[in-house]
Amino acid sequence: MLKKLAAAFGLVMVCVSAWALTDKQMAEVESRIQPAGKVCLQGDNTCGAAVASVGGAPKSGEDVYKGSCQGCHASGAGGAPKVGDVADWGKRAEQGVDTLHKHAIEGFNNIGMMPPKGLCMSCSDEEVMAAVDYMLENSK
Ligand code: HEC
Repeated sequence: MLKKLAAAFGLVMVCVSAWALTDKQMAEVESRIQPAGKVCLQGDNTCGAAVASVGGAPKSGEDVYKGSCQGCHASGAGGAPKVGDVADWGKRAEQGVDTLHKHAIEGFNNIGMMPPKGLCMSCSDEEVMAAVDYMLENSK
């Protein structure tokens, strides 16, 4: 239990430094971790896995995609390039994979709203990049 709490707290600290949560968001996060000792961040529907991922093996691109990206990228919601849409991904890939990685991590708003890290605040940059690679791989 203590270990879990410590892991959860570490995760919150990472989020704070990376995303400068507002006091209100911070309070929300705290209220969520207190009773169960586990973090369930907004937009992260892989609750539980978030804690397990701290200090553990990184999530695969497929796991991150399924947990955090497919909500928009399977349906094309809001103009998101659909996985399997060879033409859309082909155009985007022309800017280079590094740019796609950067846009996925930092967010990108050209025709639609691509939120930073697809809102997976518990994902490392590497995990987000793996998810981009997974989508590209499945859109050729
Ligand atoms: C809330 C919906 C939403 C979620 C969740 C989401 N995306 Fe997106 N994504 C978008 C939209 C909309 C665009 C198109 C943005 C544009 O072209 O203006 C986009 C575009 C992208 C692009 C192309 C950027 C470019 O330069 O053309 C990449 C790469 C990407 N998303 C990766 C991801 C990854 C990886 C995840 C999960 C970790 C994710 N997205 C989750 C909505 C989403």
